[in-house]
Amino acid sequence: MVQREYRFIKRKERLAVYPGSFDPVTNGHLDIIERSLKFIDKLVVSITRHPAKKPVFTFKERMEMLRSVFAGRDDVVVDFFDGLLVDYLEKKGIYLVIRGLRAVSDFDYEFQMVLTNRKMLPQIETIFLTPREEYLYLSSSAVKEIARLNGPVEKFVPAFVANKLKEKFIEGSDRQ
Ligand code: PNS
Repeated sequence: MVQREYRFIKRKERLAVYPGSFDPVTNGHLDIIERSLKFIDKLVVSITRHPAKKPVFTFKERMEMLRSVFAGRDDVVVDFFDGLLVDYLEKKGIYLVIRGLRAVSDFDYEFQMVLTNRKMLPQIETIFLTPREEYLYLSSSAVKEIARLNGPVEKFVPAFVANKLKEKFIEGSDRQ
């Protein structure tokens, strides 16, 4: 009699990292995150602790905002990194990066980043996703400007983030 061997092969989880400053997270970022989850199993949204541009929100605040948005989700992990992205990717063993590409104005910067990172860590691949049209011109900087001028930020960010922006810019302005 032929002995049959059954193997249960567990498919490996497809993971990717979405790095950024998230100062603060916007609906545009959320759109990119949801799109990426159509073809990966789990996304590590990773905040750079020390972005090139001095952030308005502290590292703790940026982390708190992202964690509140993704509370209870097991397909999105919020993490952070210091130093080079390539070192972080290597440490995590994740070689797929997700980035948003909005208008042509993003292209130069993103292209330079991909090629420089690839020189340092050849096995990484970057997938660029484009958000829905209404978020094409949305940026964290624009959102901060709107908040500073007491505009309707709730159209562009999750409710928790809108409250944090108001605390920072409106309530904070009395104290300055
Ligand atoms: O949201 P941002 O500010 O466009 O994100 C840029 C970020 C954080 C992904 C990028 O600046 C980065 O990877 N910084 C870490 C330092 C690093 O690796 N620099 C080399 C990039 S060429």
